Amino acid sequence: MELLPTIAAVRNYVAAARHRGLTIGLVPTMGYLHEGHLSLARAARQQNDVVIMSIFVNPTQFGPNEDFARYPRDLERDRELAAGAGVDAVFAPAVAEMYPAGYATYVHVEGLTEVLCGASRPGHFRGVTTVVSKLFNIVQPDRAYFGQKDYQQALVIKKMVRDLNFPVEIITIPTVREADGLALSSRNKYLTPEQRRSALSLHRALNLGSELIKAGEREAAAVRRAMEKEITAWPETRIDYIAISDAGTLKPLERIAGRVLLALAVWVGNTRLIDNVVLEVSD
Ligand code: PAF
Repeated sequence: MELLPTIAAVRNYVAAARHRGLTIGLVPTMGYLHEGHLSLARAARQQNDVVIMSIFVNPTQFGPNEDFARYPRDLERDRELAAGAGVDAVFAPAVAEMYPAGYATYVHVEGLTEVLCGASRPGHFRGVTTVVSKLFNIVQPDRAYFGQKDYQQALVIKKMVRDLNFPVEIITIPTVREADGLALSSRNKYLTPEQRRSALSLHRALNLGSELIKAGEREAAAVRRAMEKEITAWPETRIDYIAISDAGTLKPLERIAGRVLLALAVWVGNTRLIDNVVLEVSD
């Protein structure tokens, strides 16, 4: 497996692959890989001739008081895991390679980025869409792979791709969970054993909300109240948001119908976790 530390090295690698008529799949990550990332890599392996994974903890998507500095990093381990999942090359640039001194250009998707995680993390999606645009321009992939756990991120990137005419197909892959239902996340590493138990409240609340809706509840406020009660019953939890929204527009719903997103962000101690589920709901 190749390690490509610079944009020039990626461009050479991609040019050689294109010269041979090969298709390219890109798996953008911030590293500290888990099964969720590896499921993206395996899907990319099946659908493309060449798989490139980027590993870059992107400073522009972290707020000033967020966990950029302490975000877990382990490139050696990541390289081995990526190779095992069929990745051909890892692009792992330094921050100065992506954002040299004087860097001043950002990509902003309006609307979809102003709610849910965008409301609690101002500037976050601007950082995501900027770095993903740069990665698309550098790698020029045929397909790019994103996890369903970051539902809003995938939706924002799809919108950006449509609006800016990027010639790339965005593929979303279902969330990978631990046996007890906790969604995999590199941030799970921050949790103490007690907090790890409380982190299950996200999955439990989503299950509870889904069950209520399946049983016929159509009032979003009632579903939200039940989910809130479930989460706050666990130690060290603090709700950032619980959204019951149209899965396409992210507009909040009062009455639950159609393709519905239940999404939440919850602080467990000092760790902010997110999870979601999408339901098809008949009237
Ligand atoms: O989902 C992530 O890990 C990041 O937001 C991404 C897409 C790699 C951009 O930095």
